[in-house]
Amino acid sequence: MQSMKEVVKEHFQNEARNFDEIIQKIVPFYSQMIDALIIVLPFHISKDIHVLDLGSGTGTVCQKVKERYVNAHVTCLDFAENMIIVAKQRLKVYPDVKYIIGDFYNFEFSQKYDAIISSLALHHLRTDDDKKTFYKNIFDHLTDNGVFYNADIILGSNKYLQDIYMSKWKEFMQNNISEEEINSLWILKYDTEDKPAELIHQLAWLNKIGFQDIDVVWKYFNFAVYGGVKRK
Ligand SMILES: C[S@@+](CC[C@H](N)C(=O)[O-])C[C@H]1O[C@@H](n2cnc3c(N)ncnc32)[C@H](O)[C@@H]1O
Repeated sequence: MQSMKEVVKEHFQNEARNFDEIIQKIVPFYSQMIDALIIVLPFHISKDIHVLDLGSGTGTVCQKVKERYVNAHVTCLDFAENMIIVAKQRLKVYPDVKYIIGDFYNFEFSQKYDAIISSLALHHLRTDDDKKTFYKNIFDHLTDNGVFYNADIILGSNKYLQDIYMSKWKEFMQNNISEEEINSLWILKYDTEDKPAELIHQLAWLNKIGFQDIDVVWKYFNFAVYGGVKRK
């Protein structure tokens, strides 16, 4: 039997070619969310920052980083080779981008980064403890004044809010896809593959780990961009 990790990997292996089209239809204001993830990076545009993009997919986040920071050294990490193939094609004008086909669960950080960022990927860390351990690992591999920001699907703080979040998410998808597809494909994948955590808990974990200036910089119901700074 396939492990959940293998199921998730196969999902993205198969989706790679159509991913950029699909994501706009299922994630509310996806482009706006990614813009928020990039705009909060607190570096001068000419600085040669080192950036790690976890679960980099087809390279959208990396492209936005390179457009804003011409001297950025970006490493894209993803376990779905087909996603990396699409990313390489999209980012071929940036020959210095590094690609690692690998699992962030057992990623061996070999250097420190000025920014570790991620979009729609870290909710695949299966448990709260996995997330806490990984956020600590991220903290340990940031430079002084380095930042961690995550754009991701999250849970509300109680059932009432979570129900609203789910209905607002479905309402967004209904603009683009059929009710049948929403329930039998996307909500089913969400229920089986995704393990989001309460945003409020995640902010508390970041605080306990030692991040400062923690904030939620963008939010649309159950999608949020949040993170903090590792102060010297
Ligand atoms: C929803 S996509 C998001 C892609 C991209 N960050 C974006 O926002 O367009 C999630 C990505 O995370 C990757 N991913 C999920 N779990 C992973 C893991 N354990 N290690 C590495 N990559 C992973 C998937 O292969 C996929 O490309």
